Amino acid sequence: MSKTLLIKKKITSFSKQIQVSGDKSLSIRWVLLASQAIGKSKAYNLLMSEDVVAALEAIKKLGIKVLVHKNHCEIFGNGINGFKYKNGLVIDAKNSGTLGRLILGLLIKSPKKIKIIGDKSLSKRDFSRVTLPLEKFGAKFYYKTKNKLPLSILGAQSSKGINFIENKGSAQCKSSVMLAALNSSGTTFIKAKKSRNHSELLFKYLKIPIKIKKTKKYDFINIKKPKKINAFNYQIPGDISSSAFFMVLTILTNNSKLLIKNVNINPSRIGVITILKKMGAKISLKNKRNYRGEKISDILIQSSKNLKSINCPSELNSSAIDEFLIIFLAAAKAKGISYFKDISELNQKESPRLNWGSKILNMMGVKTELTKNSIKIYGQPNLEITKPIIIKNYLKDHRIFMMSTIAALTCGGEWKIHDKNSINTSFPSFLKIVKNISNKSL
Ligand code: S3P
Repeated sequence: MSKTLLIKKKITSFSKQIQVSGDKSLSIRWVLLASQAIGKSKAYNLLMSEDVVAALEAIKKLGIKVLVHKNHCEIFGNGINGFKYKNGLVIDAKNSGTLGRLILGLLIKSPKKIKIIGDKSLSKRDFSRVTLPLEKFGAKFYYKTKNKLPLSILGAQSSKGINFIENKGSAQCKSSVMLAALNSSGTTFIKAKKSRNHSELLFKYLKIPIKIKKTKKYDFINIKKPKKINAFNYQIPGDISSSAFFMVLTILTNNSKLLIKNVNINPSRIGVITILKKMGAKISLKNKRNYRGEKISDILIQSSKNLKSINCPSELNSSAIDEFLIIFLAAAKAKGISYFKDISELNQKESPRLNWGSKILNMMGVKTELTKNSIKIYGQPNLEITKPIIIKNYLKDHRIFMMSTIAALTCGGEWKIHDKNSINTSFPSFLKIVKNISNKSL
């Protein structure tokens, strides 16, 4: 397979039904929690992308039996703190911030040093946001470069619950501390700025003692160590972050319609729908249902002419954190100047996404005003690209690849997008679905 994607033509109108792969956040959380349960847990529709396979490999190295079948995956947990491993263990978190940060929470009592490594992108990312609270539990960290991977963790002999204020709106930090709380005596108190709440919902479903008080800006969470976690089966719903690319593809293509089946629409994840609807996009939720505390529905999207710009309220930032690149593309085709503020966290992702978003729009001929924390996008509803565009050296950020593909399919021009394999991080079937939407009719 060639590593570069060439796109020379826009997509033509379509009417389709698709299903995207399983949610990445839920898949990784299922793997990590099943490793702490007692006995056999099963997951259906587990996302088999590189990030999740890295999580399965990690727990295997920690002595947990894993069986991957055609239609489901089984994990045979050894209970809380039940990992068994030899000296000199190295865990490769590859590209996954979620895996790298969450697994440290499970290792706060590891009696031998464990080294965590990651790829080039992950090794540039900050780990102090989790090591600082985990040090309060008694864990020790050793680095080559302070706060970066590779790092080693040595656990505490005993650990007690802590007080932690999570101020970035990062679900990874909150969840890492929540996992550490499973293995600590007393109570852990977390005051967390709003972020995705999959860990909380899973803890509740698993009957782990957790209490949550919600205020407008913060959630106050307290957790006590459970006696044990029972094995559990889980059907992973589709990923809204993967769906978002196809939402914008449909919105920006004339006379088109798309139904995406079985998508997780947890309110802490649907900022992309709220933002696109505010811009005038036609999106509706069908067949809503509940599953173990999560909300699921089918999403119907129609082409939406006359998109208008948005002054995006920053309260929506955390619920759309992984979707901003594709939202920026919608803003580039909207009438007026869009403004996104308080989004410096975007530069802490797999690549500096705020800078990259601006750079790609500029290559497309769209004017932006960029600061460290905000972007203004001067929309061009009639934008048609005529010159060649090459996207490369973007730290193989899967979402840059997918945003560029959708831009090429909706705005024209000749695109050469390098590092096609980057999609394997989160959405290996992305290009297959693009092909299916472009060729066959419903
Ligand atoms: C994730 C949380 C978010 C998100 C990431 C997945 C999670 O990161 O960007 O893709 O599963 O908890 P932050 O918590 O750092 O914002």
